[in-house]
Amino acid sequence: MSTSADALDSQKTAAEVKIRVRNLDAYYGSFHALKNINLDIPSRAITSIVGPSGCGKSTLLRCFNRMSDGIRGFRVKGEIRLDGGDILGRGVELTQLRKRVGMVFQRPNPFPLSVFENVVYGPRVHGEENSRLADLVEKSLRATDLWDDLKDRLGQNALSLSAEQQQRLCISRLLAVEPEVLLMDEPCSALDPFATSRIEVLMQELKQDYTIIIVTHNMQQASRASDYCGFMWLGELVEFADTPTIFTKPRNPRTEGYVTGRFG
Ligand SMILES: Nc1ncnc2c1ncn2[C@@H]1O[C@H](COP(=O)(O)OP(=O)(O)OP(=O)(O)O)[C@@H](O)[C@H]1O
Ligand SMILES: [Mg+2]
Repeated sequence: MSTSADALDSQKTAAEVKIRVRNLDAYYGSFHALKNINLDIPSRAITSIVGPSGCGKSTLLRCFNRMSDGIRGFRVKGEIRLDGGDILGRGVELTQLRKRVGMVFQRPNPFPLSVFENVVYGPRVHGEENSRLADLVEKSLRATDLWDDLKDRLGQNALSLSAEQQQRLCISRLLAVEPEVLLMDEPCSALDPFATSRIEVLMQELKQDYTIIIVTHNMQQASRASDYCGFMWLGELVEFADTPTIFTKPRNPRTEGYVTGRFG
């Protein structure tokens, strides 16, 4: 049922493609976790990935910055291109790749350091000059609407912030290294509904400059907050389309069953 590589290649899409996935398979040892995934992720838009637990959403997301490379027995076959450049090859510099494609996790995971040190951590690793750090902190905290709250508390330990502030700080920390793609794996699952909707507003602002891919179990969130949506099931990408199509006239009955809450 998944889209074939040939069908995708012959499609004329209006949106510019940021990440192109072709014939992607992934395995944990002998377990076949991703099955022939073909997908074009549009640039400067929000793409959501939905599907029942264990269907491979996180596995797919982690392929985009090769976060699973260290897992014993994990291997991938196929092709992933970022702006046309291969990211699966042996020669790919992973630090550079992860600078371009950053990740936000389910639980906010700030370092047990000050707000300031959290934000400048990445830029320092990448050799940013000290004289630019203060500006970068302000810019990155402004981008997530944290600046006004935290500008007088930059020395405070990040672990003392609220869960929402911690998640925003983790996003600021990513933005500070000037990435192109933000991967978000259930970024709101530790947040209350108000904080969740504020993060969704933030995502709408960020998509002007970044390509965002979000994994979510929350169908309302996928339908409200994303422009494109992919439905996965048992390691396959069953259907991928613009979000209104997935939620109002999906082609596949399995997609319909899932997004309407009849199974999953
Ligand atoms: N490190 C691992 N070693 C072995 N199998 C794994 C590993 N990580 C994930 N899997 C298996 O791969 C499959 C896909 O897992 P994945 O975490 O990608 O699913 P998911 O869609 O993100 O699920 P959830 O919604 O619960 O987060 C599952 O069957 C899972 O058990
Ligand atoms: Mg997951």
